[in-house]
Amino acid sequence: MKKRIAIFASGSGSNAQKIMEHFKYSNLAEVSLVLSNNPDAYVIQRADNFEIPSHVFDRRAFYESEEIIELLRRLEIDIIVLAGFLLLVPENLLKAYPNKIINIHPALLPKFGGKGMYGDKVHQAVLQAGEEEHGITIHFVNERFDEGEVIHQAKFKIESDDTLETIKFKGQQLEHQYFPKVIENLLKKYN
Ligand code: GRF
Repeated sequence: MKKRIAIFASGSGSNAQKIMEHFKYSNLAEVSLVLSNNPDAYVIQRADNFEIPSHVFDRRAFYESEEIIELLRRLEIDIIVLAGFLLLVPENLLKAYPNKIINIHPALLPKFGGKGMYGDKVHQAVLQAGEEEHGITIHFVNERFDEGEVIHQAKFKIESDDTLETIKFKGQQLEHQYFPKVIENLLKKYN
């Protein structure tokens, strides 16, 4: 049976798009559901374009009920992929999917991670720190922001003429290149 992926995203969903494209004709897995805490997130439109069901939920449903876990179980979801999802994953969900929830972060963790470190703030901090290199991290999710075990990192050198926009773009290219493949490799290890 095909493995079933659920993507959680709060915003644009360009990574979600790449994952949906990657698995569209795959025999290994499919994206079965896209979930968002943001009713205006563009990722919902992207899911619609792929005819993939989506589900919008509020904080209460996420933190104070079993609603999301029940939905994931009902749809027999095997892996949860956070792709630009801004809420901390609650303990009941971590327990329901041990080592089956992964996230992508736009920096080389453990540097430039943690609460509030998202979007342009990450790239700004990298430039301010005068880093020589920058990159992305794909990691397992635990109860703290950006601290779970690293699965894969990819990096590039920061050039003297780089700006926030250029390093952001280079990082995004790496995310799109690696995230679908890393998910595929993980799923191949599941029985
Ligand atoms: C990415 O940079 C990812 O690393 C971070 O949030 C961003 C999501 O971008 N967690 P998008 O919505 O996939 O375009």
